[in-house]
Amino acid sequence: MWSSSFFADAFHLALLGPLLLSVEAKPVKNDGIREKISINAGWRFSRSEFNTDKLAYDLSRTDYANRTDLTVLKPWVMPSANDFIVDPAARYQPPSTEPNISCPFVQSSFDDSSWESVNLPHDWAIKGPFYVGDNVPVSGGMGRLPVQGVGWYRRKLQMTEADEGKSVYLDIDGAMSYSIVWLNGHLVGGWPYGYSSYQLDLTPHLKLGDDNLLAIRVDNPGNSSRWYPGGGIYRNVWLTKTSPTHVGQWGTFITSKNVSKSSAVLDLTVEVENSGNASQTLSVVTDVYVLDTATGAAGRQVASFPRQTVTVAGGQKASVNASTTVNKPALWGPPPSQSPNMHVAVTRLYNRHNDVVDTYSTNFGIRSVVYDSNHGLLVNGELIRIRGVNGHHDLGSLGAAFNERAAQRQLEVLQELGCNALRTSHNPPAPELLDLADKMGILVYEEAFDCWQLGKNPNDFHLIFDEWSEADVRTMLRRDRNHPSVIIWSIGNEVGEQTTGATGAAVAKRLREIVHSEDVTRPVTASMNAARPDMPFPGELDLVSLNYQGEGIRDTGPYAGLPGISTSPLYYAFHDAFPDKLVLSSETAATLSTRGTYFFPVTNWTSAPENYTLGSGGNDTLLEVSDYGLYTAPFGSSPDKVFVAQDNASFVGGEFVWSGWDYIGEPTPYYEARSSYYGIIDLAGFGKDRFFEYQSRWRPDLPVAHILPHWTWPDRVGQVTPVHVFSNGDEAELWVNGRSQGRLRRASASVYRFRWDNVTYHAGEVRVVAYKNGKPWASDRVVTAGAPAALRLSADRSAISGDGLDLSFLTATVVDGKGNVVPAADNEITFSVSGGGGELVATDNGDPRDFTSFASATRKAFSGRALAVVRANGQGAITVTASSAGLARAVVRLTAH
Ligand SMILES: *[C@@H]1O[C@H](CO)[C@@H](O)[C@H](O)[C@H]1NC(C)=O
Ligand SMILES: *[C@@H]1O[C@H](CO)[C@@H](O)[C@H](O)[C@H]1NC(C)=O
Ligand SMILES: *[C@@H]1O[C@H](CO)[C@@H](O)[C@H](O)[C@H]1NC(C)=O
Ligand SMILES: *[C@@H]1O[C@H](CO)[C@@H](O)[C@H](O)[C@H]1NC(C)=O
Ligand SMILES: *[C@@H]1O[C@H](CO)[C@@H](O)[C@H](O)[C@H]1NC(C)=O
Ligand SMILES: *[C@@H]1O[C@H](CO)[C@@H](O)[C@H](O)[C@H]1NC(C)=O
Ligand SMILES: *[C@@H]1O[C@H](CO)[C@@H](O)[C@H](O)[C@H]1NC(C)=O
Ligand SMILES: *[C@@H]1O[C@H](CO)[C@@H](O)[C@H](O)[C@H]1NC(C)=O
Ligand SMILES: *[C@@H]1O[C@H](CO)[C@@H](O)[C@H](O)[C@H]1NC(C)=O
Repeated sequence: MWSSSFFADAFHLALLGPLLLSVEAKPVKNDGIREKISINAGWRFSRSEFNTDKLAYDLSRTDYANRTDLTVLKPWVMPSANDFIVDPAARYQPPSTEPNISCPFVQSSFDDSSWESVNLPHDWAIKGPFYVGDNVPVSGGMGRLPVQGVGWYRRKLQMTEADEGKSVYLDIDGAMSYSIVWLNGHLVGGWPYGYSSYQLDLTPHLKLGDDNLLAIRVDNPGNSSRWYPGGGIYRNVWLTKTSPTHVGQWGTFITSKNVSKSSAVLDLTVEVENSGNASQTLSVVTDVYVLDTATGAAGRQVASFPRQTVTVAGGQKASVNASTTVNKPALWGPPPSQSPNMHVAVTRLYNRHNDVVDTYSTNFGIRSVVYDSNHGLLVNGELIRIRGVNGHHDLGSLGAAFNERAAQRQLEVLQELGCNALRTSHNPPAPELLDLADKMGILVYEEAFDCWQLGKNPNDFHLIFDEWSEADVRTMLRRDRNHPSVIIWSIGNEVGEQTTGATGAAVAKRLREIVHSEDVTRPVTASMNAARPDMPFPGELDLVSLNYQGEGIRDTGPYAGLPGISTSPLYYAFHDAFPDKLVLSSETAATLSTRGTYFFPVTNWTSAPENYTLGSGGNDTLLEVSDYGLYTAPFGSSPDKVFVAQDNASFVGGEFVWSGWDYIGEPTPYYEARSSYYGIIDLAGFGKDRFFEYQSRWRPDLPVAHILPHWTWPDRVGQVTPVHVFSNGDEAELWVNGRSQGRLRRASASVYRFRWDNVTYHAGEVRVVAYKNGKPWASDRVVTAGAPAALRLSADRSAISGDGLDLSFLTATVVDGKGNVVPAADNEITFSVSGGGGELVATDNGDPRDFTSFASATRKAFSGRALAVVRANGQGAITVTASSAGLARAVVRLTAH
């Protein structure tokens, strides 16, 4: 009743925008009730491409190197890290005076009425325009969108008499990047790393009334990332109000041990913070309930921790520990064999008058995980092979601005694929993503950094690694260590320090020790694409996490002789060198393709490098890669090759495919484009052909048969056009226009596609029937399409909340007169939305070369399809129409409630 559902109520009220102030004006007059209030609504925003306010965190960036006109604010920002620096001597003293700045934006008197009105989460760059061509400020690697520059966000906060005497905190879940916060002209603090969440104490500078001015400056450098980072306050922002004595920020930690079906022992730590002056003695009581994840409400009580007493001096923190036993616990585990059951621990602090002064809830799960070096991952005693993918943080056409429904959709499509694990490459995600993973039962490999001291881009994290890495690791740990979904902590991805001998290993050791000082229950790793078993680096890690090295790099057939490092498959070498450490792959595949695009001839290998010089797999004029699922980055391997390597090493825990969804930026192999080619699923959410290859391996009980390519090739009549089928049957027969092309039997369990490489194209029908144990198991059929005649439109959900956040994702398909999908159709489609407060948010088609703004209502279909994203601010019937010249239009009705 009180817990997550209380938060949710405050959240929804806050969405009403202008009403927010009246919500703030009437806080519940009860010191025992902590309030977490969304302040996402009602901001004013302004961005300049260049630094015109003459402020800077520091001058280490390449573009600030010679700027003598900038005022450096770092000394006032560093103290924000203090709670996450363990050695008191290493903490930062705030300067005794305020910085001398003349920027008017931090003052309440500044008139921002001409600034743009925005709601958070906000990504200032996603609407573009795209930078196209060479010599642009942001090139393909970072997605060709205007992420660079300085953005200011301003908003008023109201404090009433009921707030007096309370502690008031600002919680920023993520701001990209180098954010600095002022309240009423006072610099309160900040946090450079855009993927970390942080909290600042606003209490000292708040005043009664509605004239409290919060100003947040974000200064996002170019050349700072290997993918699209987004720009601005791209995650949720909250005000937390508590009594001066309260549970500290992320102040609880619950672990489970001796877990079985009959019982589990829970260990709890609660950190109590006293921001008052007088010492306080408190009782700490924590009860454990079953959590209803659908509603967020606490259900049946299942345990209680013994009451503890703690005395906390003024201005100090103190911790208490307690243990309890839960009988017959509902365990958390991944579907389909297990259920993601959650619990909530409700902690109450009582003062010496026995009044409740704080109530704090912690969602957690009870599960055991064993990292067995000879068998793999055991969750609650059951061997769970990791069928994972990598995911960057962007949400396609919605950019980096976090949206829960969009993130949930990404995970739903992955679960449909049979995926059970996600690596948050290469940074901590939005906190709500982990809530979703908890709820959906997805195992998470959470990663801190993409680089350490050795940078990968001139302005990336290496500039601040020495001063901030401890604080950034500790914020990740303290924020996320109660999530049952998180099973592995990664301190870095493909860091240069892998191969610098003892020097790099010492950094790994330091970071590993920081992680373990916050959590001893999970192993620490780093993703290795270059460290070899005989180097010092892997010795510092608790488990061996390989990128591409397990199945080998540039080692076989058409890869041999390519320039670059060549590595023979290393699963066994690592297993032999570290017999007690679980080995898994944090990156596999790096298969490249453009959805629905095919080039001929098709390689006869099971895995081949895309090489446009050789005309193999790709075309560097068209900027497209063939969707046969055989062509890869030079260091990659097709799914077929990866699966064989894993089959041959049964001790390997599983894999995280690079990548699950396409993402903005890193458009290997064509940096002229805007978004990646690596995804199993394209940027719009449409599966590429190899979706079915993974599905047929990862969901052995689901009958799967999928034919590729499409069968509409007017220019290929009489030409050899290979037909491949992904199926989890053991035999398959293919017919072209009724004539059998032969029944193929899977030669061994380690053959992952049926290939009829000699099929001659004639228009008509291709049909496959797959068999399992001699019986028909699954079938598929593809026909030659006629000319585009009509649009078809379908919504993933036809009823959505009118809260302005929920989304409906609509797919428009170009069909011929008989309703067949026209596979190469690129008709220009215009979407319109009316009624019910409905609004078009974005469109996309999954084409990495499409430079039309994601905000555009008009979008060309790509390989026959386009996507529209709709939200609602209100209630009622919404009509979405897709129209295109010469085609019958399509209409879908949605309901907003
Ligand atoms: C800064 O000045 C140095 C020395 O004059 C020069 O070599 C360098 O190119 C300048 N850097 C920038 C970013 O202007
Ligand atoms: C603050 O800066 C202004 C202009 O940059 C300068 O004139 C003034 O002396 C400075 N004040 C102090 C106290 O340093
Ligand atoms: C990034 O670096 C390139 C190459 O030095 C430069 O042309 C570009 O302007 C830089 N971008 C930004 C935003 O600084
Ligand atoms: C928990 O398990 C450990 C060994 O795994 C055992 O020593 C201990 O007695 C167990 N504790 C309880 C409370 O069952
Ligand atoms: C603590 O003491 C200081 C200085 O005496 C005073 O300004 C402040 O208001 C006190 N804080 C609280 C929460 O009582
Ligand atoms: C593919 O064809 C080439 C050239 O005909 C041949 O050398 C090679 O062995 C073939 N590869 C496979 C895997 O059959
Ligand atoms: C493509 O193949 C050519 C010829 O073998 C080779 O020189 C080139 O490096 C390859 N390109 C890539 C990106 O591997
Ligand atoms: C790439 O596509 C263009 C345009 O269709 C075509 O002219 C060219 O021949 C293709 N290149 C290769 C290597 O197939
Ligand atoms: C493919 O067809 C050609 C002629 O049509 C034939 O010579 C060849 O043996 C066939 N190859 C296979 C693998 O069936």
